[in-house]
Amino acid sequence: MPQRVKKDLLKSPRGTRDLFGDELSRFDFIRSRFGEIASYYGFQKIQTPHIEHSDLFTASLGEATDIVEKQMYTFRTRGGDQLTLRPEGTIPAVRAYFENGMQAWPQPVMLYYSGSYFRHESPQRGRFREFGQVGLEVLGDSDAIADATVIRVADLAIKEMGISAQLELNTLGDKECRPGYRKELSNYYRKHFNYLCKDCKRRFKENPLRLLDCKENSCLELKKNAPQMLEYVCKECKDHFKAVLDFMDSLEIPYLLNPYLVRGLDYYTRTVFEFVATLGGKEGQAENAAEKVERLEVGGGGRYDYLAEILAGKSLPAAGCALGVDRLSEVLREGGVVPPTEEAKVFLIQLGDVAKRKSLALVEEFRKAGLRLAQSLAKDSIRGQLRVADKLGVEYSIILGQKEAMDGTVILRDMSSGIQETLPLPKLIERLKNKIYPK
Ligand code: HAM
Repeated sequence: MPQRVKKDLLKSPRGTRDLFGDELSRFDFIRSRFGEIASYYGFQKIQTPHIEHSDLFTASLGEATDIVEKQMYTFRTRGGDQLTLRPEGTIPAVRAYFENGMQAWPQPVMLYYSGSYFRHESPQRGRFREFGQVGLEVLGDSDAIADATVIRVADLAIKEMGISAQLELNTLGDKECRPGYRKELSNYYRKHFNYLCKDCKRRFKENPLRLLDCKENSCLELKKNAPQMLEYVCKECKDHFKAVLDFMDSLEIPYLLNPYLVRGLDYYTRTVFEFVATLGGKEGQAENAAEKVERLEVGGGGRYDYLAEILAGKSLPAAGCALGVDRLSEVLREGGVVPPTEEAKVFLIQLGDVAKRKSLALVEEFRKAGLRLAQSLAKDSIRGQLRVADKLGVEYSIILGQKEAMDGTVILRDMSSGIQETLPLPKLIERLKNKIYPK
């Protein structure tokens, strides 16, 4: 008797899932659209390992960030190394830049990537423990054009996927002006300390900027009157931000200034941004539809001029952005979008052993000719095979029976008119090409 398989063994770990069918088609569509546009704009693809030394992330993400505090998948190897499944792609890209001598390349170095990332978060809609990201990094450029290029390419990619998302922008200043703002923010929150949520009471000591990111109602209420960074930034940061906004205007990319946008990662300086899509609450629905509308951050990024100093002790001004593939796919799914796949227009029906044997060679000839051919070689009866052909809605069927297999001919059947003709095999592909792709 086979032992009954334990139920949990047949479940993927919490926050992970299998991708196939329409969902995987959407993932492939998002990744390929992003890759096409990024490489057109001069970004070179990079693939870094899924594992990195843990210290790489703890040193640079900031001890007080959610990722370092509770979301990293860290383990000790048999050899005693402490490794982490990459939670994001920017830090590995910067590591790869130095490790592979990219300082010697013409600057800036523009990289793009696509892959799986891992964070131990509570799974919910659009939030997974293994998730897909596509990202861009411009390394070695302090000019606002780098920020603008990243936003431009991400915005184009999102639009070309058929998704509309609002761009939100803010500046976080640099090491000259941010301490002044931090102090103001601390003074403000100190006065209202008792109203902060438990997590924010702790965050207050570590990094008061993170309080602006809290989603608890009491903290959201306090945020409304909190001081805004824009009033504290130094002239250089203000000029930089203004230049980014000017680029947005000339590229006709609409944006919303969000003075409280801080992002969940500590490495940012100056420009930060997010692309926010909305889910649910379609027009014409109930009055309270607005309440059901859900904000979904489909992407985010910014400038990170000090990250390389922390990692490599070297100066490398840079800007980048990453989009969440699962979230983009969710927006497409809600809109009922299934990316087009080229479906077979021809079905092969084979009858008898000789025909079955010949079929395999025929399938290969179709593949070489670039014609998609569907078949069901495991089925033997003509009725069973015709039923599959009908289900697929093909335009033509090729019938290869015992007699045809001996003669070197085939029967070509037009499925809508039912008209059939017998053709010599070598003519078949040419005839079908003309019928399917008439010149
Ligand atoms: P991030 O905001 O942490 O930024 O992630 C970018 C995007 O990845 C998010 O906007 C979201 O769409 C998606 N994402 C993040 N976490 C999850 C999750 N648990 N499940 C599903 N999707 C998720 C970064 O990672 C930065 N490295 C972006 C960057 C690049 N900054 C500069 N260069």
